[in-house]
Amino acid sequence: MGIVYLNGQYLPDSQALISPLDRGFTYGDGVYEVIRVFNGKPFLLAEHFGRLADSCAKARIGAYLTPLEEVPARLLEKNGLAGDALVYIQVTRGTAPRSHVFPPPETKPTVFAMAWAFTPNPAWAQGMITILEPDVRWSRCDIKVTSLMPNSFSAQRAKELGAHEGLFVRDGVVQEGTLSNFFAVVGGEVRTAPLSNYILPGITRAVVLDLCEEHGIPSRETQVFATELAQVEEVFLTSTVYDVAPVRSIDGRALPAEHPVADRIIALFREVVRRECF
Ligand code: PDD
Repeated sequence: MGIVYLNGQYLPDSQALISPLDRGFTYGDGVYEVIRVFNGKPFLLAEHFGRLADSCAKARIGAYLTPLEEVPARLLEKNGLAGDALVYIQVTRGTAPRSHVFPPPETKPTVFAMAWAFTPNPAWAQGMITILEPDVRWSRCDIKVTSLMPNSFSAQRAKELGAHEGLFVRDGVVQEGTLSNFFAVVGGEVRTAPLSNYILPGITRAVVLDLCEEHGIPSRETQVFATELAQVEEVFLTSTVYDVAPVRSIDGRALPAEHPVADRIIALFREVVRRECF
């Protein structure tokens, strides 16, 4: 990983040491962000730091002491990353003797960040192959927590079945992907699950909804049921990692090869990236 950030210091990853008593290690007790970098410039940085602060507040993780907004740019510079990259930032509840209750309030959160060069998988742009998965996650999916075992299980199952992404279904509703938000075009209208405790308030999702509003593309935050999937015209996913990616099949059933609405949104999204980062 080269140079990473740990608790205020930039140092080689081999020297970035944390205690095994860190709550991130013993309890998976932390929150995180993944930030996309285009052309050496972090994209939607303020939005990601806003969500990180929200995650900390919802998880009752105390404020980290040093401001972190400069960390992505400094990591990119220190690692010579001048093109496309990802930056990961994690904040845990800190190091404390193992106990289910929170450690004393003076316990300092552990803050870790790293950056690496990233190129999206070209297959995604051709249409993602997806599978439906039972949503066995907890009921606070609105917090971006590091305890991702259910997401990891479903992502791995997708991989083993030759798919790119798993889509979580809870109470018959397609909520979101293992690392993406879910959109469908139904009767010419773009639909995505409304914000709730069952989905992450995706930053790419919000950009797409704003673009729909701005460009007169009919859209509504309303549930898409798994039983409706046979009738949908298009499906696409949004994520810091995927940007906006069309879906080609769900559980082996092909979707229409043409996806004009997704194509339009992808073009509009690229315009935003160009404006912000180039
Ligand atoms: N995940 N839903 C889930 C469960 C996610 O983990 C993510 C992102 C999203 C999309 O959110 P955004 O558009 O803000 O990236 C939705 C990141 C990329 C990850 O875990 O790697």
